[in-house]
Amino acid sequence: MTRRAVIRGVGHYLPERVVPNSWFESIVDTSDEWIRTRTGIERRHFAAEGETTSQLATRAARAALEDAGMEVGDIDAIVLATTTPDLTFPATATMVQRALGMTRGFAFDVQAVCAGFIFALTNANALILSGQVERVLVIGAETFSRLLDMNDRATCVLFGDGAGAVVLEARALSGTNADRGILAADLHSDGRDREMLYVDGGPSTTGTTGVVKMLGNQLFRKAVERLTETAHRALGKAGLSDNDVDWIIPHQANIRIIQGTAKRMGVPMERVIVTVQDHGNTSAASIPLAMSVAHRQGKLRQGDLIVTEAIGGGLSWGALVLRW
Ligand code: UT7
Repeated sequence: MTRRAVIRGVGHYLPERVVPNSWFESIVDTSDEWIRTRTGIERRHFAAEGETTSQLATRAARAALEDAGMEVGDIDAIVLATTTPDLTFPATATMVQRALGMTRGFAFDVQAVCAGFIFALTNANALILSGQVERVLVIGAETFSRLLDMNDRATCVLFGDGAGAVVLEARALSGTNADRGILAADLHSDGRDREMLYVDGGPSTTGTTGVVKMLGNQLFRKAVERLTETAHRALGKAGLSDNDVDWIIPHQANIRIIQGTAKRMGVPMERVIVTVQDHGNTSAASIPLAMSVAHRQGKLRQGDLIVTEAIGGGLSWGALVLRW
């Protein structure tokens, strides 16, 4: 028998305020038409004033626990991916721990920007495989709107706020790639590409939060190439190929990146979960949000093979292969 980390529940939360593309037309020189055709985004959610990442994360975590039929006392650890923590410290995960009333175990944040959920899930999987925990809440949560320069049309129209969460649970399974759960992971970073996507502030440099800076066009080309490569590497590690894929759940940055990656993998768009039109790019929250929406729509069936992939600031990127 082999220990596997199986997804037992998934949930999400989106702030109430929906911001349509037209809202930006009065702020910067842009149009709904440009945003739709270049990115696939139609609207995004922005957190209300005073609404924090930990609050969004807590609501997503509660939804995932309910979906799993579990209580917070069943959870041994929280791993939370975010680029927009409530405070510089402590970890936002500990604030979620407190809000949930969880008084044991441990909680920490993971920072890999838009690839954060892939890195968090890989870490949580390792905690389970090493026998340290039985059940982990893995959360991706962002109030990315707080990092936007509303005068920069090249970035302000792209991002949104939200949170998604999954409950991972240890299971003893056969050890073949027919098992449910996480079958393989593939992670990468290359710090030489920092200028492509970064925030120009921080506690040890400017002492300010900073705003997003992006060389979108250059990043676009790298993204399709690297996402396809990492998805193939993860599938290869699991002893599987493109033909075995039931669903791609991609990071939701741009519909053209999603389509380009799916095309290179030979997976038709009917087998790709797309939420970018409704959420924009929610960074670390985008994959669990898309997973939760797909689950609510009844698309994901037990036994389906899922490839999930993301790239973001760092650059950092990676993919996971899992069976639902
Ligand atoms: O989540 C992390 C990963 N993120 C990504 O992977 C994002 C990757 N990049 C992208 O998604 C795309 O590159 C963007 C959506 C950011 C930009 O699309 P693009 O097709 O690469 O456009 P571009 O940057 O080449 O810009 C084309 C034109 C430029 O005008 P000129 O120089 O041709 O006159 C831009 O100034 O579009 C202009 N432009 C805009 N026009 C209207 C840039 N932003 C806007 C805007 N509205 N919001």
